[in-house]
Amino acid sequence: MTDWAATDNAPLLSAHGATIRYGNVVAVAGVDLAIPPGQARIALVGESGSGKTTVLRALLGLVPTGAGEIRYRGTPLRALNSAQRADFRAAVQPVFQDGNEALDPRMRARASIAEALRMRRDDGDARTTVSGLLEDVGLEPDLADRYPHELSGGQRQRVIIARALAAQPTLLLLDEPTSALDVIVQQHILELLGRLCDERGLSILLVTHNLAVARQLCDTANVMHHGKIIESGPIHEVLTTPREEYTKRLVAAVPKLRR
Ligand SMILES: Nc1ncnc2c1ncn2[C@@H]1O[C@H](COP(=O)(O)OP(=O)(O)O)[C@@H](O)[C@H]1O
Ligand SMILES: [Mg+2]
Repeated sequence: MTDWAATDNAPLLSAHGATIRYGNVVAVAGVDLAIPPGQARIALVGESGSGKTTVLRALLGLVPTGAGEIRYRGTPLRALNSAQRADFRAAVQPVFQDGNEALDPRMRARASIAEALRMRRDDGDARTTVSGLLEDVGLEPDLADRYPHELSGGQRQRVIIARALAAQPTLLLLDEPTSALDVIVQQHILELLGRLCDERGLSILLVTHNLAVARQLCDTANVMHHGKIIESGPIHEVLTTPREEYTKRLVAAVPKLRR
């Protein structure tokens, strides 16, 4: 059993003054962000290039912070012991944008999901669970034998979500999960994510440039601009009474956003 007794009240995952550079480019400049324990639905919104994906990758421990740190349940990632690290790896699951990073083009959907199941700590009957996961994400069982290129964009995104769920996560970190999809399919995926959060008590951090998407899934918004979080609050407040000029422009740019 992993011992977290000392840090039970700490945020599930948090960034503290996180700064990330790529050469001379400061992609993220002193970001503080906390995902509280319990069911949290937090959006990180901002235009392309504002640093959203870099924050998400830092939260996963995939890019090192130059200054500041990321903590999982109050413990800096670099200080996690092996049991805590295994817990972190399973509990915090990325859902990357559809593309080669998200699914191996040479693996059938079934194999992709089975692989994720094997990485889970307590091993169940992988084959049964693959079917169960396919059902959970609304995919017909016969689609399991297809390769990514034989699936539609929406079906691929469902496989990506099933893979993430295989680890029995507490928190999903979603990077533009619907941006590659047309509006109708986007809506179906958002409904699926909302239902999965409700049913499984999942928390989410949703990275998106689309405020309407953020509003549908999240209750809290953090607005990123030039590597900084410039405004945070309940999402309906950010949408109706944005404080920063940048946020006002972002809100105004969303067509027919019903508030
Ligand atoms: N691997 C990389 N190498 C160099 N620069 C990068 C890399 N990834 C991102 N950047 C730069 O960092 C900044 C933030 O990028 P990113 O986090 O992808 O923003 P967003 O997800 O909001 O579009 C941009 O200026 C981008 O060009
Ligand atoms: Mg991005």
